[in-house]
Amino acid sequence: MTYIRYIIISNNHIVTKDYDMELITFFNIGWQRWRSHGLLALFTLAGCYIIHLYSPYADLNYIITLACGYISLILIVFSLLIGPYKLLYLRKNPVNLDLRRDVGIWAGINGCLHVAAVLLARTRGDVIFLFLRPKPQGVGYDLLMSPQGISNNLGLVATFILILLLVLSNDISLKYFKGKRWKFLQRFNYGLVVLAFIHTVLYQRFGNRARGFVILTLVLAVAVLVIQAAGFFLYNRNASRMKNHHRVRQQ
Ligand code: HEM
Repeated sequence: MTYIRYIIISNNHIVTKDYDMELITFFNIGWQRWRSHGLLALFTLAGCYIIHLYSPYADLNYIITLACGYISLILIVFSLLIGPYKLLYLRKNPVNLDLRRDVGIWAGINGCLHVAAVLLARTRGDVIFLFLRPKPQGVGYDLLMSPQGISNNLGLVATFILILLLVLSNDISLKYFKGKRWKFLQRFNYGLVVLAFIHTVLYQRFGNRARGFVILTLVLAVAVLVIQAAGFFLYNRNASRMKNHHRVRQQ
């Protein structure tokens, strides 16, 4: 860890203080990133307001459950669109892009708020019954295999990945895991998006959700498939161009 030492003179005393440099850089992220965080916070609030308009008599817990669930899904998809988009303009996809990182952080925050709201509303201390059911013999538990149970279990795995990605979204983790390992862990994002889609569609089906939400989910799924396929194509094309370029230079 790097420390910075400050000497403070107060009341004729000289005090030296060590500050953790990494903690300072954690918050010293520049106005552009603060602006992104501000916009993402506003997006979250706007999402809650839209759900309030959709369901005016719903309580705050329901609004947070639905709004944060959908905002998290939108942001997970958005974070997967940024890399391929940048590939169009940059030759190589850098390991970490600030916008992608900030979008990922807010996907994580919203996902956690969604889960917290679900746990508060649907369980009274018996969280386990969202995911498991007691064995008929009375000892131990089985996985809950009802549509809700499957959806909750997929949501649970998605939440673990979301928290992992949230924890990785800072310079300290990037430095600790180094580029390649960090990028490998970031690839869990692909698993996350699949789980989040299945979880959402299952709940949409038995929640009889309005058509607008279903169309939004479909548009997001198509967007992520098309843009990721384009990104894959561009990445391979750039890689083979670079290889050819090196081969020509070596001859
Ligand atoms: C332990 C983890 C999770 C549990 C137990 C859970 C549970 C639930 C429940 C009970 C609902 C239905 C809400 C209602 O209609 O009243 C729901 C909906 C939803 N969840 Fe989750 N969730 C989890 C994780 C996630 C995560 C990580 C995401 C992130 C994308 C997510 C996205 C959604 C979305 C978009 C909906 C709305 C689907 C609809 O229109 O009904 N959930 N979830």
